[in-house]
Amino acid sequence: MRNAQEFDVEIYRGYAIHVPYSPFKIGDEVALHAFPDGGIVVNALGTIVETGSFKQMRLRHPRARIIDRTGCYLIPGFVDCHVHYPQVYMIACYGEQLLDWLNLYTFPEEARYKDPLYAKQAAKVFFDELIKCGTTTANVFGSQFILAMEEAFLEAERRRIRVIMGLNLSDRNIPEALRLTPEKAYTLSRTLAKKWHKRGKALYAVTPRFAPVCTPEMLRVCGKLLAESPDYRLHTHANENSGEVEWMKTKELFPKQSYMEVYRRFGLTGPRSLFAHSIYATPQEVALMARTGCRVAHCTSSNFFLGSGHFPMRRYVEAGIPFGIGTDIAGGTGLSMLKELERAYGCQMILHASDPKLAYRLSGTKLLYLATQAGAETLGLGDVAGSFLSGRAADITVLNPARETYLPERMRNCSTPAEELFVLCIAGASHLVQEVYTGGQIAYRAK
Ligand code: GUN
Ligand code: ZN
Repeated sequence: MRNAQEFDVEIYRGYAIHVPYSPFKIGDEVALHAFPDGGIVVNALGTIVETGSFKQMRLRHPRARIIDRTGCYLIPGFVDCHVHYPQVYMIACYGEQLLDWLNLYTFPEEARYKDPLYAKQAAKVFFDELIKCGTTTANVFGSQFILAMEEAFLEAERRRIRVIMGLNLSDRNIPEALRLTPEKAYTLSRTLAKKWHKRGKALYAVTPRFAPVCTPEMLRVCGKLLAESPDYRLHTHANENSGEVEWMKTKELFPKQSYMEVYRRFGLTGPRSLFAHSIYATPQEVALMARTGCRVAHCTSSNFFLGSGHFPMRRYVEAGIPFGIGTDIAGGTGLSMLKELERAYGCQMILHASDPKLAYRLSGTKLLYLATQAGAETLGLGDVAGSFLSGRAADITVLNPARETYLPERMRNCSTPAEELFVLCIAGASHLVQEVYTGGQIAYRAK
């Protein structure tokens, strides 16, 4: 009799590469799983059954349908740990550091999302571009407008992108149009969370913009919201830019405690909480973050573009604080995680040259790990996405070096998978993305 389940199995054939465990902990050689003629076995539910050499997978699943991508690299869909949806139309705004950039460019642009038609078009563009870059999971900073958030959740759902997202909250030091009272922030966040949290692949994140634009009352409301479900997330910014950090210390804001202590006081630190940037956290703040289980998003291109600084990566690894990579548009300069990896490498090289105790010379294995499994773990999704281990969603990004002329030539000069991977991370770009699968279904195919 026909074994229906076996017929429904598919094997993705290609150069399968993933990094399911931390190379920072176990070393690159053990961490890198590379199968030059590999097979990823996916069941009818879009879940990975197993991954190995194609020959072996074929023998074990003789009736499976083959999706043959020989000549391409198959990598786990990227995990973007910090990116702003209502900034999709403002990449490359010139010449300012964070606080002036927010006032001059960002706040006026975000105010336009009051118009649901504007927001709807932006949401389409945002999620189209995200998936085109090979990103299948994203921790998305939202808009201040509930209808704009509806559009964003819908567009993510249509593309089967796994999102963590929520209403952007602020009630001072920001134009009136972007303020919500704490009461309104509470009811609107709750309405959105009730509708979208755990609907399909979506999760809800309580999203105070950053402490300088929130009153203590607003931060209290955020703590209350976060406590209402064991798996809501908290998404905010901290310790990004020296101007911001100095401002936090002034007496109209929070002069008596450290930046992270402010968040802690309102119940906002913990394993569900992600703080974007965290360049300037003091040793005491790093200790607080480690003790409470906080997460971080490292956003190199944004840190460069806004002149913010260099992320001292080694401190976070040594403190055991999970972190992933964020493109952080429009502080960041694009949605490509591959571009972000090239920047992250350069940033660590610069820092390593001045102080090796702060940084790494990141290998291809570490870079791919940071863009995939590390990101998934940082978002509390380490057993759902980020690798090709059994039980993970079949979120697969297909990179074809032959979509350009240089890379195939350069690759011929590589003698190990680790070398190939490094070249891919540094010299690769999003035009290599040929297809993207989410949960075993096609979500994007290049023309
Ligand atoms: N801090 C507060 N808001 C923002 C923002 O929109 N972008 C960045 N990079 N940092 C912020
Ligand atoms: Zn940001």
